[in-house]
Amino acid sequence: MKTLLVITGHSKGLGKAILEKFINEKDILILAISRTSLDLERDNLQEIPLDLSDLNALEVQLPALFPKEKFDRMLLINNAGWIGEVKPVGKLHPKGIRQVLNLNLVAPMILSDAFAKAYADQKGTKIIINISSGAASKPLPGWGEYCTSKAGLAMFSKVAAEELKENGFRVFSLAPGIVDTEMQAEIREADQSDFPALERFKSYKSEGQLSQAEEVAQKIYFLATHPDQFEDVVQDVRNFKAD
Ligand SMILES: NC(=O)c1ccc[n+]([C@@H]2O[C@H](COP(=O)([O-])OP(=O)(O)OC[C@H]3O[C@@H](n4cnc5c(N)ncnc54)[C@H](OP(=O)(O)O)[C@@H]3O)[C@@H](O)[C@H]2O)c1
Repeated sequence: MKTLLVITGHSKGLGKAILEKFINEKDILILAISRTSLDLERDNLQEIPLDLSDLNALEVQLPALFPKEKFDRMLLINNAGWIGEVKPVGKLHPKGIRQVLNLNLVAPMILSDAFAKAYADQKGTKIIINISSGAASKPLPGWGEYCTSKAGLAMFSKVAAEELKENGFRVFSLAPGIVDTEMQAEIREADQSDFPALERFKSYKSEGQLSQAEEVAQKIYFLATHPDQFEDVVQDVRNFKAD
């Protein structure tokens, strides 16, 4: 069985852990997009250095991105994301707003659209997994950019799931829980006056309540390899087991 995996944000955190789940599969081609390369010497991995918040750069790469050959399984995992400026409305900046929305929402929409165009006529398993967040449905003061981008991504996933099902695609919007990555470290650096929930997020770390990227990646791998066990578009890794 020949598989294509396109994953964004593979250079660290959750994306790197997901990459590690797939990389030893037989007969898989992995295209991995982040600003930083891991420089792994693997025949089945192509790293594409790209700033996904730069939509012009993304559009230049897009025509050559999705291989035209035939695959039995085609996966797109839109994982790259950024918490953005942790500040309330009134203290944000146009550039920051644009960067987060481009990276967390617009780039996944563009990639999903190109993936759907590239493989609409192919038979086989075709799955888009958009890494959203619990913050998509919970307003958190200080996270206006982030919550908005993830809510948008969840809604886009629901619309795309409806539209693409007749061509055999499954689309998921997946909340990974609270994961011990650099993103959480960045959240803990926020200013208390800009982010009232700061102490709660610090205690997740100090009390060992964060999940590990490897265990979350295992759940995402399970979803990607058993899509028929998952009916709903919106999924939360805390609600299912990886077996
Ligand atoms: N950690 C959590 O608790 C948590 C909770 C809910 C949802 N999530 C979501 O899970 C996903 C992964 O987050 P994480 O915690 O693993 O974060 P992370 O450790 O900060 O990793 C983020 C990944 O995204 C890439 N990335 C960031 N900005 C980029 C850009 N402009 N262009 C291309 N790639 C970019 C980074 O690579 P480069 O820096 O090399 O570009 C990195 O590989 C994100 O969508 C995040 O919103 C995380």
